[in-house]
Amino acid sequence: MMLRFFAFIVISLAIMPAMAATTTSQALAHKQAGTPVTADNWMISAANPLAVEAGAHILRNGGTAADAMVAVQSVLGLVEPQSSGLGGGAFLVWYDGKTGSITTLDGRETAPMAVTPQLFQDKTGAPLKFFDAVVGGLSVGTPGTPALLQAAHERWGRSPWSSLFDDAISLASDGFDVSARLASLIAGDKDRLARYQPTADYFLPSGIPLQAGDRLKNPAYAKTLHTLAMTGVSSFYRGAIAADIVDTARSPDTNPGLLSAQDLSIYRIKERPAICTSYRGYDVCGMGPPSSGGLTVGQILGLLEPFDLAALGPQSADAWRLIGDASRLAFADRGRYMADSDYVPVPTRGLLDSDYLAERSALLDGSMALNDVDPGNPPFDTALNWSDDESNALPSTSHISIIDPFGNALSMTTTIENAFGSRLMTQSGFLLNNELTDFSFRSHRNGIPIANRVEPGKRPRSSMAPTIVLKDGSVMLVAGSPGGSRIIGYVAKTIIGVLDWGLDAQQSVDLPHLVNRFGVYDLEAGTSASELSASLTALGYKVKVRGLNSGLHIIVKQDGTYFGGADNRREGIALGE
Ligand code: GLY
Repeated sequence: MMLRFFAFIVISLAIMPAMAATTTSQALAHKQAGTPVTADNWMISAANPLAVEAGAHILRNGGTAADAMVAVQSVLGLVEPQSSGLGGGAFLVWYDGKTGSITTLDGRETAPMAVTPQLFQDKTGAPLKFFDAVVGGLSVGTPGTPALLQAAHERWGRSPWSSLFDDAISLASDGFDVSARLASLIAGDKDRLARYQPTADYFLPSGIPLQAGDRLKNPAYAKTLHTLAMTGVSSFYRGAIAADIVDTARSPDTNPGLLSAQDLSIYRIKERPAICTSYRGYDVCGMGPPSSGGLTVGQILGLLEPFDLAALGPQSADAWRLIGDASRLAFADRGRYMADSDYVPVPTRGLLDSDYLAERSALLDGSMALNDVDPGNPPFDTALNWSDDESNALPSTSHISIIDPFGNALSMTTTIENAFGSRLMTQSGFLLNNELTDFSFRSHRNGIPIANRVEPGKRPRSSMAPTIVLKDGSVMLVAGSPGGSRIIGYVAKTIIGVLDWGLDAQQSVDLPHLVNRFGVYDLEAGTSASELSASLTALGYKVKVRGLNSGLHIIVKQDGTYFGGADNRREGIALGE
Protein backbone atom coordinates (compact mmCIF):
# COMPACT_ATOMS: atom_id res chain seq x y z
CA MET A 1 0.00 0.00 0.00
CA MET A 2 2.68 2.43 1.09
CA LEU A 3 4.79 1.64 -1.98
CA ARG A 4 1.85 2.07 -4.28
CA PHE A 5 1.01 5.56 -2.95
CA PHE A 6 4.62 6.66 -3.21
CA ALA A 7 5.00 5.17 -6.71
CA PHE A 8 1.91 7.08 -7.80
CA ILE A 9 3.38 10.37 -6.61
CA VAL A 10 6.91 9.86 -7.95
CA ILE A 11 5.79 8.67 -11.41
CA SER A 12 3.39 11.58 -11.73
CA LEU A 13 6.07 14.12 -10.88
CA ALA A 14 8.54 12.54 -13.30
CA ILE A 15 6.25 12.76 -16.33
CA MET A 16 4.89 16.23 -15.63
CA PRO A 17 5.83 18.42 -18.61
CA ALA A 18 5.89 22.22 -18.40
CA MET A 19 3.46 23.64 -20.95
CA ALA A 20 2.49 27.17 -21.85
CA ALA A 21 -0.87 26.34 -23.42
CA THR A 22 -3.03 23.27 -23.93
CA THR A 23 -5.62 21.99 -26.35
CA THR A 24 -8.62 20.01 -25.17
CA SER A 25 -7.10 16.70 -26.24
CA GLN A 26 -3.84 17.56 -24.47
CA ALA A 27 -5.87 18.46 -21.38
CA LEU A 28 -7.60 15.07 -21.48
CA ALA A 29 -4.24 13.33 -21.91
CA HIS A 30 -2.87 15.16 -18.86
CA LYS A 31 -5.85 14.10 -16.82
CA GLN A 32 -5.56 10.46 -17.82
CA ALA A 33 -1.82 10.49 -17.15
CA GLY A 34 -2.41 11.95 -13.71
CA THR A 35 -0.48 15.14 -14.45
CA PRO A 36 -1.73 18.69 -14.02
CA VAL A 37 -2.13 21.12 -16.89
CA THR A 38 0.22 24.08 -16.44
CA ALA A 39 -0.13 27.70 -17.54
CA ASP A 40 1.18 31.18 -16.78
CA ASN A 41 -1.75 33.48 -17.56
CA TRP A 42 -5.04 31.81 -16.77
CA MET A 43 -6.62 28.46 -15.99
CA ILE A 44 -10.16 27.05 -16.10
CA SER A 45 -11.20 23.70 -14.68
CA ALA A 46 -14.80 22.55 -15.11
CA ALA A 47 -16.98 19.56 -15.85
CA ASN A 48 -17.19 19.54 -19.64
CA PRO A 49 -14.67 20.40 -22.38
CA LEU A 50 -17.20 22.44 -24.40
CA ALA A 51 -17.98 24.54 -21.35
CA VAL A 52 -14.30 25.06 -20.55
CA GLU A 53 -13.64 26.11 -24.16
CA ALA A 54 -16.47 28.65 -23.99
CA GLY A 55 -14.84 30.16 -20.91
CA ALA A 56 -11.43 30.13 -22.64
CA HIS A 57 -12.88 32.14 -25.58
CA ILE A 58 -14.00 34.81 -23.13
CA LEU A 59 -10.64 35.00 -21.33
CA ARG A 60 -8.73 35.15 -24.63
CA ASN A 61 -10.90 38.13 -25.60
CA GLY A 62 -10.00 40.08 -22.47
CA GLY A 63 -12.76 38.89 -20.16
CA THR A 64 -12.47 38.22 -16.45
CA ALA A 65 -13.13 35.07 -14.47
CA ALA A 66 -16.66 36.36 -13.82
CA ASP A 67 -17.29 36.77 -17.56
CA ALA A 68 -15.83 33.35 -18.30
CA MET A 69 -17.94 31.75 -15.56
CA VAL A 70 -21.15 33.03 -17.23
CA ALA A 71 -20.07 31.38 -20.49
CA VAL A 72 -19.03 28.14 -18.73
CA GLN A 73 -22.30 27.93 -16.78
CA SER A 74 -24.40 28.63 -19.89
CA VAL A 75 -22.78 25.71 -21.71
CA LEU A 76 -22.89 23.40 -18.68
CA GLY A 77 -26.65 23.97 -18.50
CA LEU A 78 -26.86 22.57 -22.04
CA VAL A 79 -24.31 19.74 -22.16
CA GLU A 80 -24.53 18.65 -18.51
CA PRO A 81 -28.20 19.54 -17.89
CA GLN A 82 -28.56 16.90 -15.17
CA SER A 83 -26.19 18.76 -12.84
CA SER A 84 -26.70 22.51 -13.00
CA GLY A 85 -28.34 25.26 -15.00
CA LEU A 86 -30.67 28.23 -15.11
CA GLY A 87 -33.26 26.29 -13.12
CA GLY A 88 -30.94 25.82 -10.13
CA GLY A 89 -28.79 27.63 -7.61
CA ALA A 90 -25.11 28.22 -6.86
CA PHE A 91 -22.57 29.65 -4.42
CA LEU A 92 -19.63 31.72 -5.59
CA VAL A 93 -16.36 32.62 -3.85
CA TRP A 94 -14.43 35.47 -5.49
CA TYR A 95 -10.85 36.61 -4.92
CA ASP A 96 -10.14 40.10 -6.20
CA GLY A 97 -6.73 40.20 -7.88
CA LYS A 98 -6.29 43.93 -7.13
CA THR A 99 -7.40 44.17 -3.53
CA GLY A 100 -6.81 40.62 -2.32
CA SER A 101 -10.29 40.58 -0.79
CA ILE A 102 -12.65 37.61 -0.74
CA THR A 103 -16.37 38.03 -1.47
CA THR A 104 -18.98 35.28 -1.33
CA LEU A 105 -22.32 35.38 -3.15
CA ASP A 106 -25.31 33.23 -2.29
CA GLY A 107 -27.46 32.30 -5.28
CA ARG A 108 -29.23 29.52 -3.42
CA GLU A 109 -32.85 28.71 -4.24
CA THR A 110 -35.58 29.93 -1.88
CA ALA A 111 -38.66 28.08 -0.67
CA PRO A 112 -41.96 29.44 -2.01
CA MET A 113 -43.75 31.81 0.36
CA ALA A 114 -46.68 29.38 0.50
CA VAL A 115 -44.78 26.44 2.05
CA THR A 116 -45.18 25.13 5.58
CA PRO A 117 -42.69 23.06 7.61
CA GLN A 118 -44.88 20.04 6.75
CA LEU A 119 -44.12 20.33 2.99
CA PHE A 120 -42.51 16.89 2.80
CA GLN A 121 -44.71 15.06 5.28
CA ASP A 122 -47.75 12.88 4.65
CA LYS A 123 -51.11 13.40 6.33
CA THR A 124 -49.91 11.60 9.46
CA GLY A 125 -46.84 13.83 9.74
CA ALA A 126 -44.45 11.09 8.57
CA PRO A 127 -41.66 12.17 6.18
CA LEU A 128 -42.27 11.32 2.50
CA LYS A 129 -39.99 8.83 0.80
CA PHE A 130 -37.12 10.76 -0.79
CA PHE A 131 -38.00 10.27 -4.46
CA ASP A 132 -41.73 10.81 -3.81
CA ALA A 133 -40.69 14.30 -2.73
CA VAL A 134 -38.05 14.88 -5.42
CA VAL A 135 -39.94 14.16 -8.64
CA GLY A 136 -42.38 16.92 -9.53
CA GLY A 137 -43.13 20.49 -8.57
CA LEU A 138 -43.22 20.14 -4.78
CA SER A 139 -39.42 20.17 -4.54
CA VAL A 140 -38.84 23.20 -6.78
CA GLY A 141 -37.32 26.30 -5.20
CA THR A 142 -36.97 29.72 -6.82
CA PRO A 143 -33.88 29.46 -9.05
CA GLY A 144 -30.93 31.63 -8.07
CA THR A 145 -28.33 30.88 -10.74
CA PRO A 146 -29.48 33.47 -13.33
CA ALA A 147 -29.42 36.26 -10.73
CA LEU A 148 -25.98 35.11 -9.56
CA LEU A 149 -24.58 35.22 -13.10
CA GLN A 150 -25.75 38.77 -13.54
CA ALA A 151 -24.56 39.90 -10.10
CA ALA A 152 -21.08 38.46 -10.72
CA HIS A 153 -20.93 40.14 -14.11
CA GLU A 154 -22.11 43.49 -12.73
CA ARG A 155 -19.47 43.42 -9.99
CA TRP A 156 -16.49 41.92 -11.75
CA GLY A 157 -17.19 41.62 -15.48
CA ARG A 158 -15.42 43.44 -18.32
CA SER A 159 -16.91 41.81 -21.41
CA PRO A 160 -20.29 42.89 -22.72
CA TRP A 161 -23.01 40.78 -21.05
CA SER A 162 -24.61 40.06 -24.42
CA SER A 163 -21.39 38.40 -25.67
CA LEU A 164 -21.19 35.82 -22.91
CA PHE A 165 -23.81 33.42 -24.27
CA ASP A 166 -22.58 33.10 -27.87
CA ASP A 167 -21.04 29.63 -27.57
CA ALA A 168 -23.97 28.24 -25.60
CA ILE A 169 -26.48 29.66 -28.10
CA SER A 170 -24.55 28.18 -31.07
CA LEU A 171 -24.24 24.79 -29.41
CA ALA A 172 -27.93 24.76 -28.46
CA SER A 173 -28.98 25.78 -31.99
CA ASP A 174 -26.56 23.63 -33.99
CA GLY A 175 -26.44 20.70 -31.60
CA PHE A 176 -23.79 18.94 -29.56
CA ASP A 177 -22.86 15.29 -29.08
CA VAL A 178 -24.44 13.66 -26.05
CA SER A 179 -21.61 12.56 -23.79
CA ALA A 180 -21.18 9.05 -22.45
CA ARG A 181 -21.90 10.23 -18.92
CA LEU A 182 -25.10 12.05 -19.85
CA ALA A 183 -26.29 9.04 -21.86
CA SER A 184 -25.66 6.62 -19.02
CA LEU A 185 -27.43 8.86 -16.49
CA ILE A 186 -30.45 9.18 -18.82
CA ALA A 187 -30.58 5.40 -19.23
CA GLY A 188 -30.35 4.90 -15.48
CA ASP A 189 -33.12 7.41 -14.74
CA LYS A 190 -35.46 6.75 -17.66
CA ASP A 191 -38.48 5.77 -15.57
CA ARG A 192 -38.42 9.03 -13.63
CA LEU A 193 -37.65 11.11 -16.73
CA ALA A 194 -40.67 9.51 -18.42
CA ARG A 195 -43.08 10.82 -15.79
CA TYR A 196 -43.38 14.32 -17.30
CA GLN A 197 -43.98 14.45 -21.04
CA PRO A 198 -41.81 17.48 -21.97
CA THR A 199 -38.89 15.88 -20.08
CA ALA A 200 -39.47 12.54 -21.80
CA ASP A 201 -39.70 14.28 -25.19
CA TYR A 202 -36.25 15.79 -24.67
CA PHE A 203 -34.29 12.96 -23.05
CA LEU A 204 -36.24 9.94 -24.35
CA PRO A 205 -37.31 10.88 -27.90
CA SER A 206 -39.83 8.28 -29.17
CA GLY A 207 -39.42 6.62 -25.79
CA ILE A 208 -35.74 5.71 -26.43
CA PRO A 209 -33.04 7.14 -24.12
CA LEU A 210 -30.55 9.37 -25.93
CA GLN A 211 -27.31 7.53 -26.71
CA ALA A 212 -23.71 8.69 -26.41
CA GLY A 213 -22.80 10.51 -29.62
CA ASP A 214 -26.39 11.45 -30.53
CA ARG A 215 -26.62 15.00 -31.83
CA LEU A 216 -28.87 16.96 -29.49
CA LYS A 217 -30.30 20.43 -30.12
CA ASN A 218 -32.15 22.61 -27.65
CA PRO A 219 -33.72 25.52 -29.57
CA ALA A 220 -35.84 26.51 -26.56
CA TYR A 221 -32.68 26.97 -24.47
CA ALA A 222 -31.04 28.95 -27.30
CA LYS A 223 -34.07 31.28 -27.32
CA THR A 224 -33.99 31.69 -23.54
CA LEU A 225 -30.28 32.52 -23.57
CA HIS A 226 -30.82 34.97 -26.41
CA THR A 227 -33.51 36.70 -24.34
CA LEU A 228 -31.24 36.86 -21.27
CA ALA A 229 -28.35 38.14 -23.42
CA MET A 230 -30.47 40.93 -24.89
CA THR A 231 -32.56 41.99 -21.91
CA GLY A 232 -30.79 40.75 -18.77
CA VAL A 233 -32.04 38.35 -16.17
CA SER A 234 -35.08 40.44 -15.25
CA SER A 235 -36.66 38.61 -18.20
CA PHE A 236 -36.10 35.37 -16.29
CA TYR A 237 -37.76 36.50 -13.07
CA ARG A 238 -40.74 38.26 -14.69
CA GLY A 239 -42.68 37.70 -17.90
CA ALA A 240 -42.90 34.67 -20.17
CA ILE A 241 -39.97 32.64 -18.81
CA ALA A 242 -41.14 33.16 -15.21
CA ALA A 243 -44.69 32.17 -16.20
CA ASP A 244 -43.34 29.02 -17.86
CA ILE A 245 -41.39 28.10 -14.70
CA VAL A 246 -44.44 28.59 -12.51
CA ASP A 247 -46.73 26.64 -14.87
CA THR A 248 -44.21 23.78 -15.01
CA ALA A 249 -43.71 23.63 -11.24
CA ARG A 250 -47.48 23.72 -10.63
CA SER A 251 -48.42 21.34 -13.43
CA PRO A 252 -51.14 19.00 -12.19
CA ASP A 253 -49.29 16.09 -13.88
CA THR A 254 -46.33 16.32 -11.56
CA ASN A 255 -46.88 16.40 -7.82
CA PRO A 256 -47.75 20.09 -8.13
CA GLY A 257 -45.70 22.58 -6.18
CA LEU A 258 -46.28 25.97 -4.62
CA LEU A 259 -43.93 28.22 -6.58
CA SER A 260 -45.57 31.48 -7.63
CA ALA A 261 -44.84 34.43 -9.90
CA GLN A 262 -44.30 36.49 -6.76
CA ASP A 263 -41.61 34.09 -5.48
CA LEU A 264 -39.68 34.66 -8.71
CA SER A 265 -40.18 38.43 -8.76
CA ILE A 266 -38.86 38.90 -5.20
CA TYR A 267 -35.79 36.63 -5.58
CA ARG A 268 -32.47 38.26 -4.67
CA ILE A 269 -28.92 36.93 -4.43
CA LYS A 270 -27.15 37.74 -1.14
CA GLU A 271 -23.61 38.67 -0.31
CA ARG A 272 -22.57 36.68 2.78
CA PRO A 273 -19.56 36.95 5.05
CA ALA A 274 -16.83 34.56 3.87
CA ILE A 275 -15.91 31.79 6.30
CA CYS A 276 -12.11 31.72 6.61
CA THR A 277 -10.19 29.23 8.76
CA SER A 278 -6.50 29.14 9.36
CA TYR A 279 -4.82 25.79 8.56
CA ARG A 280 -1.07 25.13 8.50
CA GLY A 281 -0.43 28.83 7.97
CA TYR A 282 -2.91 29.15 5.09
CA ASP A 283 -6.32 30.84 5.08
CA VAL A 284 -9.01 28.49 3.81
CA CYS A 285 -11.99 30.59 2.69
CA GLY A 286 -15.41 29.28 1.74
CA MET A 287 -19.13 29.74 1.79
CA GLY A 288 -21.05 30.34 4.97
CA PRO A 289 -24.70 29.58 5.75
CA PRO A 290 -27.01 28.60 4.17
CA SER A 291 -24.22 26.34 2.99
CA SER A 292 -22.66 24.09 5.59
CA GLY A 293 -19.65 23.72 3.28
CA GLY A 294 -17.31 26.42 4.60
CA LEU A 295 -18.06 25.76 8.27
CA THR A 296 -17.80 21.98 8.06
CA VAL A 297 -14.60 21.95 5.96
CA GLY A 298 -13.25 24.61 8.36
CA GLN A 299 -14.15 22.52 11.41
CA ILE A 300 -12.56 19.36 9.96
CA LEU A 301 -9.32 21.21 9.27
CA GLY A 302 -9.42 22.98 12.64
CA LEU A 303 -9.85 19.64 14.44
CA LEU A 304 -6.92 18.15 12.49
CA GLU A 305 -4.54 21.08 12.98
CA PRO A 306 -2.86 19.61 16.11
CA PHE A 307 -2.00 16.34 14.30
CA ASP A 308 0.97 15.78 12.03
CA LEU A 309 -0.80 14.39 8.98
CA ALA A 310 2.27 15.06 6.84
CA ALA A 311 4.30 12.63 8.90
CA LEU A 312 1.54 10.01 8.80
CA GLY A 313 1.05 10.30 5.02
CA PRO A 314 -1.89 9.35 2.80
CA GLN A 315 -1.23 5.62 3.16
CA SER A 316 -1.72 5.59 6.94
CA ALA A 317 -4.88 4.14 8.52
CA ASP A 318 -4.25 6.42 11.49
CA ALA A 319 -4.33 9.50 9.26
CA TRP A 320 -7.73 8.36 7.98
CA ARG A 321 -8.91 7.63 11.54
CA LEU A 322 -8.16 11.25 12.40
CA ILE A 323 -9.73 12.61 9.21
CA GLY A 324 -12.75 10.30 9.49
CA ASP A 325 -13.51 11.13 13.11
CA ALA A 326 -12.84 14.86 12.63
CA SER A 327 -15.41 14.69 9.86
CA ARG A 328 -17.91 12.82 12.04
CA LEU A 329 -17.56 15.42 14.79
CA ALA A 330 -18.03 18.23 12.28
CA PHE A 331 -21.05 16.51 10.70
CA ALA A 332 -22.64 16.16 14.15
CA ASP A 333 -22.42 19.94 14.60
CA ARG A 334 -23.60 20.48 11.04
CA GLY A 335 -26.72 18.41 11.69
CA ARG A 336 -27.66 20.40 14.75
CA TYR A 337 -26.58 23.96 14.11
CA MET A 338 -26.24 24.73 10.40
CA ALA A 339 -29.09 26.17 8.34
CA ASP A 340 -30.12 29.43 6.70
CA SER A 341 -28.80 32.06 9.12
CA ASP A 342 -31.48 34.53 7.99
CA TYR A 343 -34.01 32.27 9.71
CA VAL A 344 -32.17 30.64 12.58
CA PRO A 345 -29.22 31.95 14.55
CA VAL A 346 -26.17 29.89 13.54
CA PRO A 347 -23.14 29.98 15.87
CA THR A 348 -20.73 30.58 12.98
CA ARG A 349 -18.02 32.12 15.18
CA GLY A 350 -18.50 29.56 17.93
CA LEU A 351 -18.22 26.59 15.61
CA LEU A 352 -14.75 27.77 14.54
CA ASP A 353 -13.69 29.13 17.93
CA SER A 354 -10.15 27.92 18.66
CA ASP A 355 -10.88 26.85 22.26
CA TYR A 356 -13.98 24.97 21.14
CA LEU A 357 -12.10 23.23 18.34
CA ALA A 358 -9.24 22.35 20.71
CA GLU A 359 -11.73 20.79 23.14
CA ARG A 360 -13.38 18.76 20.34
CA SER A 361 -10.02 17.88 18.79
CA ALA A 362 -8.88 16.33 22.08
CA LEU A 363 -11.53 13.65 21.45
CA LEU A 364 -9.30 12.41 18.61
CA ASP A 365 -6.38 11.69 20.91
CA GLY A 366 -7.11 7.95 21.27
CA SER A 367 -6.07 5.24 18.89
CA MET A 368 -9.44 3.75 17.95
CA ALA A 369 -12.51 5.05 16.10
CA LEU A 370 -14.83 7.10 18.32
CA ASN A 371 -17.76 5.07 19.61
CA ASP A 372 -20.33 7.78 19.86
CA VAL A 373 -20.25 11.14 18.20
CA ASP A 374 -22.57 13.87 19.44
CA PRO A 375 -22.82 17.55 18.58
CA GLY A 376 -20.76 19.81 20.80
CA ASN A 377 -21.70 23.02 22.58
CA PRO A 378 -20.01 25.82 20.68
CA PRO A 379 -19.95 29.26 22.31
CA PHE A 380 -23.32 30.64 21.33
CA ASP A 381 -24.91 33.70 22.84
CA THR A 382 -28.39 32.88 21.63
CA ALA A 383 -30.34 30.64 23.97
CA LEU A 384 -32.00 28.23 21.59
CA ASN A 385 -32.35 24.51 21.59
CA TRP A 386 -32.13 22.71 18.24
CA SER A 387 -32.84 19.13 17.42
CA ASP A 388 -30.65 17.07 15.09
CA ASP A 389 -31.35 17.26 11.41
CA GLU A 390 -31.91 14.57 8.91
CA SER A 391 -31.79 15.56 5.29
CA ASN A 392 -30.66 13.88 2.13
CA ALA A 393 -28.18 15.33 -0.32
CA LEU A 394 -27.42 12.98 -3.15
CA PRO A 395 -24.58 13.38 -5.63
CA SER A 396 -25.28 15.67 -8.56
CA THR A 397 -24.05 19.24 -8.99
CA SER A 398 -21.01 20.72 -10.78
CA HIS A 399 -18.00 22.87 -9.96
CA ILE A 400 -16.15 25.64 -11.83
CA SER A 401 -12.68 26.95 -10.87
CA ILE A 402 -11.10 29.85 -12.77
CA ILE A 403 -8.07 32.12 -12.38
CA ASP A 404 -8.00 34.93 -14.96
CA PRO A 405 -5.14 36.99 -16.42
CA PHE A 406 -5.94 39.82 -13.95
CA GLY A 407 -5.18 37.58 -10.98
CA ASN A 408 -8.84 37.21 -9.98
CA ALA A 409 -9.94 33.77 -8.84
CA LEU A 410 -13.43 32.28 -8.82
CA SER A 411 -14.72 29.12 -7.18
CA MET A 412 -18.36 28.32 -7.87
CA THR A 413 -20.35 25.20 -7.08
CA THR A 414 -23.61 25.02 -8.98
CA THR A 415 -26.52 22.60 -8.84
CA ILE A 416 -30.06 21.55 -9.59
CA GLU A 417 -29.62 19.10 -6.63
CA ASN A 418 -30.45 15.51 -7.66
CA ALA A 419 -29.41 14.27 -11.13
CA PHE A 420 -32.03 15.89 -13.44
CA GLY A 421 -33.41 17.83 -10.46
CA SER A 422 -37.19 17.61 -10.17
CA ARG A 423 -37.26 15.95 -13.64
CA LEU A 424 -39.36 18.88 -14.86
CA MET A 425 -38.24 20.34 -18.19
CA THR A 426 -39.59 23.81 -18.85
CA GLN A 427 -40.71 25.00 -22.27
CA SER A 428 -37.74 27.39 -21.96
CA GLY A 429 -35.27 24.50 -22.35
CA PHE A 430 -33.90 23.86 -18.86
CA LEU A 431 -34.65 21.56 -15.95
CA LEU A 432 -36.07 22.80 -12.66
CA ASN A 433 -34.24 22.02 -9.42
CA ASN A 434 -35.41 19.83 -6.55
CA GLU A 435 -33.40 21.90 -4.06
CA LEU A 436 -36.15 22.00 -1.42
CA THR A 437 -35.41 18.36 -0.59
CA ASP A 438 -32.16 19.64 0.96
CA PHE A 439 -34.40 20.80 3.83
CA SER A 440 -35.10 18.40 6.67
CA PHE A 441 -38.31 16.52 5.92
CA ARG A 442 -39.04 16.44 9.65
CA SER A 443 -39.74 19.80 11.23
CA HIS A 444 -39.29 18.71 14.88
CA ARG A 445 -37.88 15.84 16.85
CA ASN A 446 -39.33 15.11 20.31
CA GLY A 447 -41.01 18.50 20.18
CA ILE A 448 -37.75 20.37 19.53
CA PRO A 449 -37.51 22.22 16.20
CA ILE A 450 -34.89 21.34 13.58
CA ALA A 451 -32.85 24.31 12.35
CA ASN A 452 -33.02 23.22 8.69
CA ARG A 453 -36.80 22.76 8.59
CA VAL A 454 -38.81 24.11 5.66
CA GLU A 455 -40.00 27.72 6.03
CA PRO A 456 -41.34 30.30 3.54
CA GLY A 457 -38.58 32.15 1.70
CA LYS A 458 -35.85 30.18 3.46
CA ARG A 459 -32.82 28.69 1.65
CA PRO A 460 -32.22 24.97 2.18
CA ARG A 461 -28.97 24.03 3.84
CA SER A 462 -26.32 23.04 1.31
CA SER A 463 -23.08 21.09 1.47
CA MET A 464 -21.53 22.92 -1.44
CA ALA A 465 -18.02 24.01 -0.55
CA PRO A 466 -16.48 26.31 -3.15
CA THR A 467 -13.12 27.16 -1.62
CA ILE A 468 -10.18 29.51 -2.17
CA VAL A 469 -7.01 29.00 -0.10
CA LEU A 470 -4.70 31.96 0.43
CA LYS A 471 -1.07 32.15 1.50
CA ASP A 472 -0.11 35.57 2.85
CA GLY A 473 -3.09 37.08 1.03
CA SER A 474 -2.34 35.48 -2.37
CA VAL A 475 -4.31 32.68 -4.01
CA MET A 476 -2.71 29.29 -3.61
CA LEU A 477 -5.59 26.87 -4.31
CA VAL A 478 -9.05 27.11 -5.90
CA ALA A 479 -11.18 24.01 -5.32
CA GLY A 480 -14.64 22.51 -5.16
CA SER A 481 -16.67 19.47 -6.15
CA PRO A 482 -20.12 18.04 -6.60
CA GLY A 483 -21.13 15.04 -4.50
CA GLY A 484 -24.00 15.89 -2.11
CA SER A 485 -22.88 15.96 1.48
CA ARG A 486 -19.71 14.05 0.49
CA ILE A 487 -18.59 17.30 -1.17
CA ILE A 488 -17.25 18.29 2.24
CA GLY A 489 -15.03 15.20 2.46
CA TYR A 490 -13.82 15.55 -1.12
CA VAL A 491 -12.83 19.17 -0.62
CA ALA A 492 -11.21 18.60 2.79
CA LYS A 493 -9.22 15.67 1.37
CA THR A 494 -8.02 17.77 -1.55
CA ILE A 495 -6.83 20.55 0.73
CA ILE A 496 -5.02 18.03 2.94
CA GLY A 497 -3.55 16.38 -0.18
CA VAL A 498 -2.05 19.66 -1.33
CA LEU A 499 -1.10 21.27 1.99
CA ASP A 500 -0.09 18.26 4.12
CA TRP A 501 0.99 15.67 1.59
CA GLY A 502 2.53 17.92 -1.04
CA LEU A 503 0.47 16.45 -3.88
CA ASP A 504 0.09 18.41 -7.09
CA ALA A 505 -3.24 19.54 -8.56
CA GLN A 506 -3.97 16.31 -10.42
CA GLN A 507 -2.57 13.96 -7.78
CA SER A 508 -4.74 15.46 -5.06
CA VAL A 509 -7.83 15.06 -7.26
CA ASP A 510 -6.89 11.48 -8.20
CA LEU A 511 -6.06 10.46 -4.63
CA PRO A 512 -8.57 7.71 -3.73
CA HIS A 513 -11.49 8.87 -1.62
CA LEU A 514 -12.16 7.81 1.96
CA VAL A 515 -15.20 9.67 3.28
CA ASN A 516 -16.85 9.44 6.68
CA ARG A 517 -19.90 11.58 7.48
CA PHE A 518 -22.11 9.73 9.93
CA GLY A 519 -20.02 6.73 11.04
CA VAL A 520 -19.77 4.37 8.07
CA TYR A 521 -16.44 4.76 6.29
CA ASP A 522 -16.98 4.94 2.53
CA LEU A 523 -13.94 3.70 0.59
CA GLU A 524 -13.71 4.35 -3.11
CA ALA A 525 -14.25 1.16 -5.10
CA GLY A 526 -11.69 0.21 -7.71
CA THR A 527 -8.91 2.12 -5.99
CA SER A 528 -6.24 1.42 -3.40
CA ALA A 529 -8.55 2.97 -0.78
CA SER A 530 -10.20 -0.42 -0.45
CA GLU A 531 -6.87 -1.82 0.77
CA LEU A 532 -7.39 0.17 3.98
CA SER A 533 -10.62 -1.71 4.63
CA ALA A 534 -9.14 -4.27 7.05
CA SER A 535 -7.13 -1.69 9.04
CA LEU A 536 -10.09 0.66 9.38
CA THR A 537 -12.36 -2.21 10.40
CA ALA A 538 -9.80 -3.16 13.04
CA LEU A 539 -9.94 0.43 14.33
CA GLY A 540 -13.67 0.01 14.91
CA TYR A 541 -15.28 1.44 11.75
CA LYS A 542 -18.04 -0.01 9.67
CA VAL A 543 -16.60 0.12 6.17
CA LYS A 544 -18.35 0.23 2.83
CA VAL A 545 -16.51 -0.01 -0.50
CA ARG A 546 -18.52 1.91 -3.10
CA GLY A 547 -18.29 4.22 -6.09
CA LEU A 548 -17.51 7.76 -4.95
CA ASN A 549 -18.33 10.05 -7.78
CA SER A 550 -16.64 13.36 -7.06
CA GLY A 551 -16.13 16.02 -9.72
CA LEU A 552 -13.22 17.96 -8.28
CA HIS A 553 -12.00 20.87 -10.40
CA ILE A 554 -9.04 22.60 -8.91
CA ILE A 555 -6.23 25.04 -9.61
CA VAL A 556 -3.01 25.26 -7.59
CA LYS A 557 -0.75 28.29 -7.91
CA GLN A 558 2.91 27.70 -7.17
CA ASP A 559 5.82 30.05 -7.91
CA GLY A 560 3.68 32.05 -10.34
CA THR A 561 2.55 29.01 -12.36
CA TYR A 562 -1.00 27.68 -12.46
CA PHE A 563 -1.52 23.90 -12.23
CA GLY A 564 -5.00 22.65 -13.18
CA GLY A 565 -6.51 19.34 -12.08
CA ALA A 566 -9.75 17.80 -13.35
CA ASP A 567 -11.51 14.74 -12.00
CA ASN A 568 -11.03 11.48 -13.90
CA ARG A 569 -14.27 10.31 -12.34
CA ARG A 570 -16.17 12.71 -14.64
CA GLU A 571 -15.71 14.31 -18.06
CA GLY A 572 -14.21 17.71 -17.30
CA ILE A 573 -10.84 19.20 -18.13
CA ALA A 574 -8.47 21.89 -16.97
CA LEU A 575 -7.30 24.25 -19.70
CA GLY A 576 -4.85 27.13 -19.47
CA GLU A 577 -2.51 29.41 -21.34
N1 GLY B 1 -27.91 20.02 -3.39
C1 GLY B 1 -26.58 19.79 -3.02
C2 GLY B 1 -26.10 20.78 -2.02
O1 GLY B 1 -26.53 21.90 -2.06
O2 GLY B 1 -25.31 20.47 -1.18
